[in-house]
Amino acid sequence: MNTKILEIDKNSLKLSKEIIEDAGAVAFPTETVYGLGANAFNTSAVENIFKIKGRPNDNPLIVHVHKDYDLNTLVDYVPDYAVRLAKAFLPGPLTMVYKSKGKVSSAVSCGLDTLAVRIPSHNGAQTFLKYLDLPIAAPSANVSKHVSPTSAEHVFNDLNGKIELILDGGKCSGGIESTVLDCTGEIPVVLRSGLVTREMIEKVAGFCTEYAYKEGVAARSPGMKYKHYSPACRTGLYAYNERQLAINEYNAEHGKGVNVYIMCDGKTAKEIGVDHILNLGFTENEIAANLYSKLREGEKVAELIIAIAPEKQDGVMAGVMNRLKKACGSNL
Ligand code: TXA
Ligand code: MG
Repeated sequence: MNTKILEIDKNSLKLSKEIIEDAGAVAFPTETVYGLGANAFNTSAVENIFKIKGRPNDNPLIVHVHKDYDLNTLVDYVPDYAVRLAKAFLPGPLTMVYKSKGKVSSAVSCGLDTLAVRIPSHNGAQTFLKYLDLPIAAPSANVSKHVSPTSAEHVFNDLNGKIELILDGGKCSGGIESTVLDCTGEIPVVLRSGLVTREMIEKVAGFCTEYAYKEGVAARSPGMKYKHYSPACRTGLYAYNERQLAINEYNAEHGKGVNVYIMCDGKTAKEIGVDHILNLGFTENEIAANLYSKLREGEKVAELIIAIAPEKQDGVMAGVMNRLKKACGSNL
């Protein structure tokens, strides 16, 4: 199959509709990462997405809808705090999990009685979703366990030959996946951290907790138990206050002739002054936006990426740390 990359316009929208109506999958941009979308009402279309990505079949998908879509047709119970959160943060990088009405294919939620819903703010995503006027089930548009894609080129690198169309909406401004928030109980629970931070949710809802996945116990958000976001090279991760150890390892590996890079924020890069740097940038939002493209850049040039964790650990950096730990298989 020939994979086309097209800007979002009348022609590409028409083609995307034909593909989706024919139970196929289309990659599209969002403000977080690119998604691989299929008609959520169509079981074979949804199953096809799992096949294309090589995704484990117990890891549920998020349904994406345009901002005027009537959510009451899909989900059952929307608590007061969720209404306030939706007003404050949607459209945007916040996915909310509700009791499902069971209207979309059961393959979307892998048999769970809940449904994760997301209303992305990216203009291209809204145009695509509005044009289709369907709930679109979409995981990130990467091969399962690889680094998530933040550009059309990243999607092409992973899925060339496996899908017909990538809608190109430029580089994703957010850079890490949406916050996943369980809204089925009395208190909202963060299942996956992201750009809408726990602190932001707490301010609007009045309360919020975070779910800590424990190995061996059934995961509330099944995606948590899998190794994720991994580049195709060796990786290491050091805490900010152990950055001297990272430099020592860099020097030792470099001395052995290993092609090694240090990945860190811009301020740390200046301070440590080594030659091979993957610089994530200075502000928190820059660091999040660059994380995946730097991991993908790194896997092309390096045999080993040694990451130094950001000094700050809360807010947006909680999401960055979560992805860094998974990318490096670290328990830091
Ligand atoms: O930003 C994003 O969320 C991107 C873009 C494309 O929208 N999508 C994305 O999808 O990251 P994916 O499939 O890579 O991650 C979906 C996450 C997984 O961790 C999954 O376990 C969780 O959402 N999830 C989906 N449905 C759920 C449900 N009903 N209950 C709990 N967790 C759910
Ligand atoms: Mg993913």
